[in-house]
Amino acid sequence: MSGKEGSQYTYRAAIITSSDRSSRGEQEDLSGPLIREMAEAAGFRVVSYTLLPDEQPLLEDELKRLCDTHTADLILTTGGTGFSPRDLMPEATLAVAERLVPGISEAMRWNSLSITPRAMLSRAVSAIRADTLIVNLPGSPKAVRENLGFIIGTLRHGLDMLTGR
Ligand code: MTE
Repeated sequence: MSGKEGSQYTYRAAIITSSDRSSRGEQEDLSGPLIREMAEAAGFRVVSYTLLPDEQPLLEDELKRLCDTHTADLILTTGGTGFSPRDLMPEATLAVAERLVPGISEAMRWNSLSITPRAMLSRAVSAIRADTLIVNLPGSPKAVRENLGFIIGTLRHGLDMLTGR
């Protein structure tokens, strides 16, 4: 069954970019706008886009705000999933998570490994808090395009289950 079957409800997506350099204005964030383009093409309505430094408390607060105010059905994050000491997006996600969804991140790594062995270096996680699904994506536009492309068609069925549609 195709992931595009099921409800036709327009789910709301929020985007968080975690990047010290982009948040200081030293580098344009290309990945957040790319996520917007791909999410809209897949039928999501993008309701929020936030660019934050790699500060775990700020990332946690924004994740909690979006989930606990029921602002978004899906949060797509980009950046901060690698090994550098300030790559803390998975830790922020796990800190606010109520339930884990390992399969989404496993699928992204599995598919990405046929493109680059460096896919194994992404520590991305996926989780549910309240009725919002949070999915970490790596930081580069190339990695966003590849990873989000693998999963976006299947997310709708998960959101239908999560929200009881
Ligand atoms: N996945 C895909 N599909 N394509 C990529 O180019 N880059 C990898 C990995 N996942 C990549 C990928 C690299 S080089 C790293 S370091 C990790 O994602 C983490 O990226 P981040 O630190 O930007 O979050």
